[in-house]
Amino acid sequence: MALKVRRVDLLFVLGMGAVVVGIALLPSPIDSNPMIPANNTHQSVKNEKECLLCHSSEGIYPLPDRHLTKRQDCFNCHGKQ
Ligand code: HEC
Ligand code: HEC
Repeated sequence: MALKVRRVDLLFVLGMGAVVVGIALLPSPIDSNPMIPANNTHQSVKNEKECLLCHSSEGIYPLPDRHLTKRQDCFNCHGKQ
């Protein structure tokens, strides 16, 4: 039983490949969120836990109330400059 690849199957595979690549190239939210400033304060922070030293409600620059999330994975939304 020979395995024949039909032309239409090949086109389908190519089409799906194009869709995957297209979605991967869409702008991700991380591009539009405020960037982590490129100053000394921020360059030296490597661990997300340290962010909250300053950005918790007791810190010197608390997150605004409207900050949409209590998630701690800052780097997933805030890119480095
Ligand atoms: C030592 C205190 C300190 C630490 C630690 C710190 N920040 Fe900041 N952050 C500040 C201050 C002060 C500002 C506002 C002034 C400025 O631009 O530096 C700021 C500003 C920001 C801004 C930009 C806000 C805007 O209006 O554009 C983002 C985003 C940010 N910080 C994210 C982080 C993240 C993520 C971390 C952890 C990797 C972090 N910060 C760690 C003090 C800190
Ligand atoms: C789910 C995505 C997401 C996560 C996770 C996240 N942020 Fe944000 N953050 C945003 C968005 C979007 C904004 C801009 C909209 C706004 O100001 O509410 C923002 C705004 C900020 C600002 C700027 C506030 C200002 O004065 O303009 C700072 C500082 C900040 N985030 C720090 C952090 C820190 C520190 C963490 C981790 C503890 C964190 N963020 C986690 C999405 C996120």
